[in-house]
Amino acid sequence: MNPLTTTERQPVDDFSWVPDGFVWGVATSAYQIEGAVAEDGRQPSIWDTLSHTPGRVAGGATGDVACDHYHRWRDDIEMMKALGVDAYRFSVAWPRVIPDGDGPVNPAGLAFYERLVDALLDAGITPYPTLYHWDLPQALQDRGGWTARETAELFATYAAIVAGALGDRVTNWVTLNEPRCSAWIGHLEGRHAPGISDIRAAVPASYHLLLGHGLAARAIRARTSGAQVGLVNLLSACEPASDREADIDAAARFDGHANRWWLDPVHGRGFPEDMLRLYGTDLPIQAGDMETIATPLDWLGVNYYTPSVLADDPDGPLPYAREVPAPDGARRTLLDWEVRAEGLEQVLVRVARDYGARRLYVTENGSAWADTVAQDGQVHDPERARYLEEHLAVCGRAIQLGVPLAGYFAWSLLDNFEWADGYEPRFGLVYVDYATQRRVIKDSGARYARVIRSYRERAGAAAR
Ligand code: FCB
Repeated sequence: MNPLTTTERQPVDDFSWVPDGFVWGVATSAYQIEGAVAEDGRQPSIWDTLSHTPGRVAGGATGDVACDHYHRWRDDIEMMKALGVDAYRFSVAWPRVIPDGDGPVNPAGLAFYERLVDALLDAGITPYPTLYHWDLPQALQDRGGWTARETAELFATYAAIVAGALGDRVTNWVTLNEPRCSAWIGHLEGRHAPGISDIRAAVPASYHLLLGHGLAARAIRARTSGAQVGLVNLLSACEPASDREADIDAAARFDGHANRWWLDPVHGRGFPEDMLRLYGTDLPIQAGDMETIATPLDWLGVNYYTPSVLADDPDGPLPYAREVPAPDGARRTLLDWEVRAEGLEQVLVRVARDYGARRLYVTENGSAWADTVAQDGQVHDPERARYLEEHLAVCGRAIQLGVPLAGYFAWSLLDNFEWADGYEPRFGLVYVDYATQRRVIKDSGARYARVIRSYRERAGAAAR
């Protein structure tokens, strides 16, 4: 593993590093923005259930209304046009399309995404739909959710239906968003839906998520031509808290838990033996599964927010490695996540070098702050703008080191429902006033727009 290195900063406005065709995007996900949870035939997902369970989400927040994007999607496309982005990564809600997860398709649910995709294309914005961003139909959870093999198979059926409907207009697909979080935070730490804390549920869930990913990748390709299929992982830059051997081992275990468990099988290397021993749970492997999981991908998505500094924690939960908070004086976001852009370089270089990735995108990157609308009606968020500049600069450095990075998606277009943390942490380039649903482009959004514009001007000048 690469130690975290100090990066020579690439000035963000020097676009010599940007390869031709670099994609500038923004990202969101269905449950975090759509609202309209009971409209047009949608049935509850595991996040409706969890958010309506008292005490599970900060402030008792739910996604019932969120950003009301289900009704305001036209305005939100206008926001994207104002930012000047090329691409939009959003997610399709399984409980809108097949409300019970299994069984009849809901044409009204599918029609929403057809309208959205058509309008994006009219606006010159390329859609990057994600098929699963954590909102499993509750009806499937009642049958075992991701701990059951049938969920992986039903996910592929759903993927085929969405691909059949949108495949004439969509080229770029994501199967799963951060299966690591679905499995570990949802089934081991219990903080996310479905709220389980049991390694004997978490390991099968992780397995079926990856199996579902492989089956879905094949289903998309069977229904479309020219599809570019990717998987999005949250990757961690792991650093030991000290040079004690125990902490060095803890960092290696965390790397196995957070990174290798998710990357190795997809690259045909099987599940890491050291982690299997640590988890002490067998995998429900059937003939052909490992080949399905390793179905070749067109690209990989990397989500990165903050580095992970690990200390040995023999009495703590698996993988017996505790994430140590950033030291006093370190720059931290509202969620206490340390700001350290070099970690992004580390994970990009790692995936390119150790896994031979041929095309990568940063599919999420951003920071949460307590933004407010100022007297002048604007939202001044210098920390977010600085975070954005530093991480874009690191993308440039990674490209110079040979990383095949093809695009960057800022998280997020809009402030939104931040899962168990509710609505306090705001990640948007666009501010959302939840009382009125008014949108205001923040200073960081204007900064991103200037970056994109000046890149285009230079690319245009170079072409002339
Ligand atoms: C990622 C999730 C995304 C958002 C950001 C802050 O782990 O994919 O939905 O919550 O974190």
